[in-house]
Amino acid sequence: METRAKWGTKLGFILAASGSAVGLGNIWKFPYITGHYGGGAFVLVYLACILIVGLPIMIAELMIGHKSQKSPIGGFKALHKSKFWVIAGVIGVVAAFLILSFYSIVAGWSMAYILKAFAGFKGSSEEIVAQFKNLKEDPFLSIMWHTIFMGLSIGIVIKGIQKGIEKWSKILMPGLVLILLGLSIYGIFFTSGGIKAIEFLFKPDFSKLSSEGVLSALGHAFFTLSLGMGAMITYGSYLKKDINIPKAAITISILDTIIALFAGIAIFSIVFEYGGEVASGPGLIFETLPVLFKEIGQFVSVPFFLLLTFAALTSAISLLEVVVSYFIDEKKWSRVKATLLIGGLIYIIGILSAVDEWKLSFMGKDQSFFDIFDFITTNYMLPVAGLLTSIFVAWIINEKIRKEEFDVSNKSKFYLPWKYIIRYITPIAVMIIILHGFGLI
Ligand code: PHE
Repeated sequence: METRAKWGTKLGFILAASGSAVGLGNIWKFPYITGHYGGGAFVLVYLACILIVGLPIMIAELMIGHKSQKSPIGGFKALHKSKFWVIAGVIGVVAAFLILSFYSIVAGWSMAYILKAFAGFKGSSEEIVAQFKNLKEDPFLSIMWHTIFMGLSIGIVIKGIQKGIEKWSKILMPGLVLILLGLSIYGIFFTSGGIKAIEFLFKPDFSKLSSEGVLSALGHAFFTLSLGMGAMITYGSYLKKDINIPKAAITISILDTIIALFAGIAIFSIVFEYGGEVASGPGLIFETLPVLFKEIGQFVSVPFFLLLTFAALTSAISLLEVVVSYFIDEKKWSRVKATLLIGGLIYIIGILSAVDEWKLSFMGKDQSFFDIFDFITTNYMLPVAGLLTSIFVAWIINEKIRKEEFDVSNKSKFYLPWKYIIRYITPIAVMIIILHGFGLI
């Protein structure tokens, strides 16, 4: 049997894992939910959620992957005899499959907007806003961009860990950071909205914070760090022995958080300068910003959608890798066969989400497949898998494994704090998200 693939360098792993974490969640969702829930106070709660829920679970997922050297389902099997915990791995793999199917649609829009930005946004504000609706409601265009985006993701994953995922993360992530830096510098120094944007994000006004906002912050901490769908387990399984897991998890979480905050600064400075609406919701990026880009020009709009596409691509490859690695490990398929078949299947299921007219009756109303898949994965599957993962690592696996995986030298001051948080605090916080998802609180 072939030996298991490994990351070439630690930096390569950090870039790939941060690439997974930094995605549409950071550039598209974080700014719009922050706008929606009122700014600074929401940001503060979000940071607390990253610290008490996100980071501890990321450490747990990396431990499972690193120790077992297996993809998520095999990973849970390898570390404990009880079959029950495998459910967490199964939910993760299915969630990754479903998420990629609709993630690719948004990523496709983002690619379409690179061209639109290049051509320049023209016409009245209504006409510019209508471009988004036209794209979304045109099945041919949505499917075409979905095809191109899935083609790129498959093309990278088929090359394997070092020659595919690691190589492309090393190109796309520095590119992403440079573009974001450029856009933030533009926002802070070249618009009068920069200071307002920073105040909006960092000056908490608790009167604006709702319980809905707190729950949303908690749910988003999961999504943004790619937790609960086996991505960090899978990426952890390609790590060599000598790795400091808590240090890696802290680096990835900090990078993810900084990038989300900078995306917020870049976007809100433009919104404040040109008088857009901060609380415009999911349309913030594809409707509000293009209207403002008309004034600013291509030198900001083209890099912006390029940034969004880079972020989406490094996340999409991690989602595809989760499912592909399961078929390679457990079904002994070759990488080429697994990537083509699974990538192809996700592509086909994605078509359901690409066609806006196709609706299904779900929870009492007609909804698009896109909304249904998004709702089920974000509200139920990721938190349930995350809850099981935290309990598994905190209570079920052997203390010796837990300790060694945290820190081989056994000297870390952070072991006990982490253990208590993941035993008592994280599961309760995640339970709250789940109960809320089921409408029980
Ligand atoms: N974490 C990524 C984001 O913030 C996306 C992602 C979600 C990646 C789920 C993998 C799984 O957009």
